[in-house]
Amino acid sequence: MRTVYVNGQYLPETEATVSIFDRGFLMADGVYEVTSVLDGKLIDFDGHAVRLERSLNELDMRAACTKEELLDIHRELVRVNEITEGLIYLQITRGSDGDRDFIFPDPETTKPTIVMFTQNKPGLADSPAAKKGAKIISIEDIRWGRRDIKTVQLLYPSMGKMMAKAAGADDAWLIEDGHVTEGTSNNAYFVKNGKIVTRPLSTDILHGITRKAVLRMAEEAQMEVEERLFTIDEAKEADEAFTTSASAFVMPVVEIDGVVLGDGTPGPIATRLREIYLDESLKAAI
Ligand code: PDD
Repeated sequence: MRTVYVNGQYLPETEATVSIFDRGFLMADGVYEVTSVLDGKLIDFDGHAVRLERSLNELDMRAACTKEELLDIHRELVRVNEITEGLIYLQITRGSDGDRDFIFPDPETTKPTIVMFTQNKPGLADSPAAKKGAKIISIEDIRWGRRDIKTVQLLYPSMGKMMAKAAGADDAWLIEDGHVTEGTSNNAYFVKNGKIVTRPLSTDILHGITRKAVLRMAEEAQMEVEERLFTIDEAKEADEAFTTSASAFVMPVVEIDGVVLGDGTPGPIATRLREIYLDESLKAAI
């Protein structure tokens, strides 16, 4: 049984509880982070901690603990649950003031709720799914307008993954005003004539921690990168495509809306970027 963390305590997962009045539960009034673990170490912990702080600030929420405390809790959960490869999920909500009210409770009297748990994922790095590449479908992006804040409002991304599954695909890319925003739980890229194209940062997409690292590594490897809006048709005509996220690193995309990209296997740039990302991230893991 897993040991999880809730509001200052390490508990068996069956004993950890949160109030039914918690605003995370009633109003999706909470933010989260997912950090990967490779070789028992945290990948880009700093990036996730910085984004968490930003998400909290944007929503006028208080941090439940300091960055140093967060790091200690992450490491302790990895240790007690003996995670070599996997993920750490962290969620902070505005807490519970013992009732339901749209108005934010006074932060002086209502403490945030903090929950963390591990997910054991052996084979995360050497993933069979990444060797095969993902098939994606495109669907309309009808999420709210502050996608740069990593909130727990994941109903539509979850529905998008169900739509993909029903269509025999692995995931969905979201389209707004004719342009791809991002994947349901990842950032989206295509490659044409050696150039990597991805949407620029704004409030329309999550500022992926993996995105930042991968774009830096691509430039260091002398790959050409262009940040601009793009359509799904451009992606369908691409030589290759891929997504990035903390849970799947660099995931090659081999099919979009039934259109096979290249020869239908992971492209050379996505494959190379996955190798570089895993290699460099492991070296910098803490
Ligand atoms: N999802 N875009 C969206 C909408 C996401 O939910 C995620 C991450 C990303 C990639 O961000 P990062 O590289 O920091 O993981 C982009 C996480 C993994 C999840 O919800 O499980």
